[in-house]
Amino acid sequence: MLGLLPLAQTYSRAPISNFFVGVVARGASGSLYLGANIEISGQCLGFAVHAEQSALSNAYMNSEQSVTSLAVVGGAPCGHCRQFMEEISPAGEILILIPNQPPAKLASILPAAFGPAALGAMQGALPIRKANLALCGGASDALNAAALDAACRSYAPYSKSPSGVAIRTTGGRIFQGCYIENVAFNPSLSPLQTAVVQLIAAGQAYSAISAVTLVEVQGSKISQRAVTETVLAALAPQLKLEVVLARA
Ligand code: THU
Ligand code: ZN
Repeated sequence: MLGLLPLAQTYSRAPISNFFVGVVARGASGSLYLGANIEISGQCLGFAVHAEQSALSNAYMNSEQSVTSLAVVGGAPCGHCRQFMEEISPAGEILILIPNQPPAKLASILPAAFGPAALGAMQGALPIRKANLALCGGASDALNAAALDAACRSYAPYSKSPSGVAIRTTGGRIFQGCYIENVAFNPSLSPLQTAVVQLIAAGQAYSAISAVTLVEVQGSKISQRAVTETVLAALAPQLKLEVVLARA
């Protein structure tokens, strides 16, 4: 895993900091997931995706049952990432590997954690528990179906507002992104952020984005529409977001 860190770093998109962070996460299946930080030019720093979030969301999107370890280059995971990891592994079992340092369990670098149980969630984000949602309208095409599927596989135990995004590229490929919520709210990943991680992992450029659909549930407590439109305007200024409502 440490040997793959330089490769993971090559996926970093850090036009603001020029600080390139790479992560390799291991899923329970044994598969390894690369991740790198993503910064959005012209937008607030809060829209950045940390490399750890990128690798963990990659494991999530590939339906891993759990994540067992995570290697990082660029320094120890920041507090925001430790909080994000806590949602993936509330037992604090993820082993953190940093070059030239002894391995450490998440629980030892995030003691007295504010975990999912604080807001009554019985387990963390993995394994995925699929919801049954149906579209209220919109075309029944492959892009909307992929966004609906991402919403069904999203994790939103606190807001009870599932959502998902699907990106179509000029080459005809479709990338999905699930909303991944956090008990501390702010480290949550919006569905477009998660989908952009998938796009970058596949070696695609932002200029290849040709259509984007957001699916969210009608009458939910929160909406991803405004943040998705704002981030999309920064990545693909000519595109109009399609929003399709769903019901449980
Ligand atoms: N960064 C990470 O990717 N992980 C961390 O835990 C520390 C910070 C990124 C975020 C931002 O893109 C850049 O490094 C500078 O903070
Ligand atoms: Zn971080």
